[in-house]
Parts: sequence; structure tokens; C-alpha cells
Amino acid sequence: MTTTIPPRHDASSPATAAQPDFDGVDLQALARRVGTPCYAYSASAIRQRIRELQQALGGLDATLCYAVKANSNIAILQLMAQSGVGADIVSAGELRRCLHAGIPADRIVFSGVGKSEDEIAGALTAGILRFNVESHDELLTLERLAQAQQVTARAAVRINPDVDAQTHAKISTGKSENKFGVSIDEARRWFAGSALLAHVRLDGLHVHIGSQILSVEPFRLALKRVAAFWRELVQAGHPIESIDVGGGLGVCYRAGEDHPVAASDYADVIRETLADYCGRLLLEPGRYLVAEAGVLLTRVIRIKHGVERRFLVLDAAMNDLQRPSLYDAWHDIVPVSAEHAARPVATYDIVGPVCETGDTFARARPVPECAAGDLLLIKATGAYGASMASTYNSRPLAAEVLLDHGRYAVVRRRQHFEDMIAGEQPARSWQTL
Ligand code: LLP
Repeated sequence: MTTTIPPRHDASSPATAAQPDFDGVDLQALARRVGTPCYAYSASAIRQRIRELQQALGGLDATLCYAVKANSNIAILQLMAQSGVGADIVSAGELRRCLHAGIPADRIVFSGVGKSEDEIAGALTAGILRFNVESHDELLTLERLAQAQQVTARAAVRINPDVDAQTHAKISTGKSENKFGVSIDEARRWFAGSALLAHVRLDGLHVHIGSQILSVEPFRLALKRVAAFWRELVQAGHPIESIDVGGGLGVCYRAGEDHPVAASDYADVIRETLADYCGRLLLEPGRYLVAEAGVLLTRVIRIKHGVERRFLVLDAAMNDLQRPSLYDAWHDIVPVSAEHAARPVATYDIVGPVCETGDTFARARPVPECAAGDLLLIKATGAYGASMASTYNSRPLAAEVLLDHGRYAVVRRRQHFEDMIAGEQPARSWQTL
């Protein structure tokens, strides 16, 4: 997320260090086999993150519900299922992916401000664990649809605690100006009227203040507000069985500069702020579990010498990885081979082939001198990389590969042209309504 810090030029900077293998797999050989651009994810690294978080939460009645939007590849969801991790979904498509991958419905929570009637009905039919409700209209819709199915929906109010998550504005969600959740005042009114809901059991609180949070303080502040409200509700006779503390744990995008919160410190904040709460805790980590477990492998197409700047043109572009163009996000970019890493450092604007100036991964970035054909890694791209990719400029979706202790499996083949245009057709049979 950092854009203002000038690039560092010291020879030991992470941009000059080679990364020849990942989870025991030789990346040069992998790139030759599956081609580039290609996302590679380390299953071991994902399992390690899950373990870290589960261990940090030891002794608490806590369930991880992975935020599927971070990386919704079926193979990643399967890994989650195998580790007993549930899911936080935001659409019918994500629900289908989770069920397909074997995540049980009773470990799935549904968030989002725009759940449609079809989506709510579908989630009720599937029997998901709980709805994180974000508006009164949604609450009434849930009541009506649950009544139609003769079931009781379990719901949590998503609280907007009006806390600054100190992150990029586009991924900040817990300020009162944001579209997410409702104020504590409004939530209080929902609980006061909850006896009128015959098919919704309103017995949960939910909060998610933003993403890529690098300090425990915003979490502490938000959870303190939630905890105070929980105490007030209990006193008013509204038992709360579940508190969902959301996601947001940040990761290291820039070695030496980003200092993520340790899982244990994060868990301590939960223990401390919710010390007297004995119900179930839900967590919705996305990025923390998968970001650093993924890299984007890309080859240099050519070097272009402009009047003012030197451009390193890669075969990956903003359609493959949107984060730099959308949020000015920093990703470390490093050579794969040791031979390449030993070359003198040069400074480039690192760009993709898409016809937009915004298709820029980095400006004035020092990396070891590059030549056409060199293989580079764009690091920490396991979250919000492939899941946000598009076919803009009619570029096929990149291949995705899962690595595990020296073995690899293609978990998404590179998109074929026929897949890309599937569903499109010339306007042949015109109709009127
Ligand atoms: N729960 C809810 C309700 C969310 O909206 C999100 C993310 C998460 C959990 C997971 O947050 P995480 O643990 O991954 O920070 N595309 C942006 C990030 C958008 C996050 C949206 N919501 C990026 O590339 O930085």
C-alpha cells in the first residue's frame, strides 16, 4: 500500500535476492512447463498460516471462516476444508465454490451489503451457519424468506464501529462514511424489535473494519466497542452466541518495511477485549492465510528505452494482478535465478502489455538488470491476485499451480481462447418483447 517511500538502492535489498524455488519446486522448470504468466501457491505455506492462527487462538471457542474472495480457487478452498477451516462468502458463486470444494455449509457465513433474494434463499436452503446482516431491509428480507422455507435463520448484525483501520481508503470498511454495517444505535433498535422476528434468531455480532491492517490498535478499538455493546445487550436480555471479529490482518508486501501483526498479538487483543465473553468466536481472515503463499511468475518481454524512463515490459499485466493499478500497492519483484540476481542493479518502470498507463507494477524500481526472457517473481500475490483477474485486452486468465513439498499440480489451466469467448455470439436472432 506504500507509494510515497522512495525506492531503496542498497545491493542487499529484497528486490535483488533470487528465489529459485518455492515449496521445493524449481521455478525455472515450472515456468518452462506451464508457461507464464502463472500464479504459484505454496500449500505448505498456507497450512502453516492456518496452524499459526489456530494455535494463537488455542483455548478459545474460535472457528476460522476463510474470506473466499481473497483466493477462490477450488484447490485453495479444498486445502481450507482439509484443515477444518470454514468460509466467509459474499455471493452465491462463492457459496457454490465452497460446497463444491467440500466446506460444510454449517461452517459458512454470508457477508455483504447487496445479498439478493435469490442469494439469501439459496444460502437458507444450503443451511449456512449464519448471515452477517448489513441493513434493516436485508433483515426483513431474511425473515420473509426464512418464513417461506419454514426455517429459522441465524443472524449477526454487522456493526460499523466508526474506526479508522489506517489502511488504504479503498479497503477501509469500518468508518461511518463506508457502506458497510450499521451503527450501534441502529443495531440497538434491531435487538429491541427482535422479538417480532419469528424466523430469524438475531444472536450474533459481526465487525470487519478493513484490510491490510498493520497495527493491533484499530482492532483493539473496534473490538472494545463491540464488547461494550455486547455487555449492554446481555444486560438487556439479548443473549449473544457468536461474535465474528472479521478479517483484516495485514501481510508483508515490502520486505523490511511492512511489519505485520503477529497472530499471537492479534489473538491477545481478542482475548483481552472479549475477556468475559464465553460464546463462539468467528474469524474471517483472507489475505493473512494466502497472500504470502503466492507468487506471480512472469517473463520479461523486452526492455524499452523511453525519453525519460526505462521500461521493463513483462508478460503479466494489470488484468492478471490489479492491486498496483487499483491501490498503488507495492509488491516486491525479484529475479528467479541466482545468475540474474548477481547482475548490477538497474532502475525500471515495470509495466505490462495492457494499453493503459495504469498498467504499471512499479515505478523507478531497482532490480538486477534484466534482458528479454528473464524470469521474475511478483511476490505476495496469493490474495486478491487471480481472484480479481480479468480478461481485459482479451488476455487469457493466467494458469494457477499449487505446490506442495517439491510437487506441483495445475489447479487452473491457462484459459483457452474458446473459454474466453464462451457465451458470446453475433446478434443473429433479433427478438422483441
Ligand atoms: N470479511 C469481510 C466481510 C470482508 O469484506 C473481507 C475483505 C474480509 C473478511 C477479508 O479481509 P482480509 O483478511 O483479506 O483483509 N482487493 C483488496 C482487498 C479487499 C478486501 C475486501 N474485504 C486488496 O487487494 O487489497
